[in-house]
Amino acid sequence: MARLLIVYGTTEGHTALVARRLAEVIQQEGCDVELHESKEIRGTTLKGPFDGVLIGGSVHAGDHQSSLREFVKHNRDLLAAAPSAFFSVSLAAAEVDAEASGEAQVAVDKFIRETGWHPERVELIAGALVYTQYNLFIRHLMKLIAKHEGRTELDTSRDYDFTDWDAVERFGRSFVQHLRQNAAA
Ligand SMILES: Cc1cc2nc3c(=O)[nH]c(=O)nc-3n(C[C@H](O)[C@H](O)[C@H](O)COP(=O)(O)O)c2cc1C
Repeated sequence: MARLLIVYGTTEGHTALVARRLAEVIQQEGCDVELHESKEIRGTTLKGPFDGVLIGGSVHAGDHQSSLREFVKHNRDLLAAAPSAFFSVSLAAAEVDAEASGEAQVAVDKFIRETGWHPERVELIAGALVYTQYNLFIRHLMKLIAKHEGRTELDTSRDYDFTDWDAVERFGRSFVQHLRQNAAA
């Protein structure tokens, strides 16, 4: 049975939901999954081997979580030893405008530059606006940003989920398929 590692960084919790959904579909595909939040294993060197690795984080002010960067830097050998993919969760990925959605890739490129890790595949995933979880300042800030970007999601008494959950599941399944093809080659 293939053994997969998923490590994710999250600030408000949405990427944890994405990582858990990925873990579920990968388990349904018959694989074992080890799932960790990066801040819980900051600075740890994990013991492999794994047959595949998924690393994911969310974007805040243009950056992914520092704990995720640290994890990747500490575990470069582990990551180099197996097929790997990066999933990045952001609001920019929800934009239809090419220039705005390009910012999602800019954050990924920065992560790759800073860690020196080159995932075989990158998946950009639209995140969520969770007004009910933000403090007063962040709620106000996020509403201003949403307004500035011409968004219509301005009701701060509720949350908005932009994630295409079917696409998340397809991503998980296709990663497993990719591992199987690799193993058979
Ligand atoms: C303070 C703050 C800053 C953010 N900055 C960005 C950003 O620079 N670019 C972007 O595309 N999304 C940005 N977002 C949106 C988050 O990436 C999005 O809400 C994501 O779903 C958060 O995932 P998490 O709950 O796993 O942290 C920001 C959100 C907050 C609350």
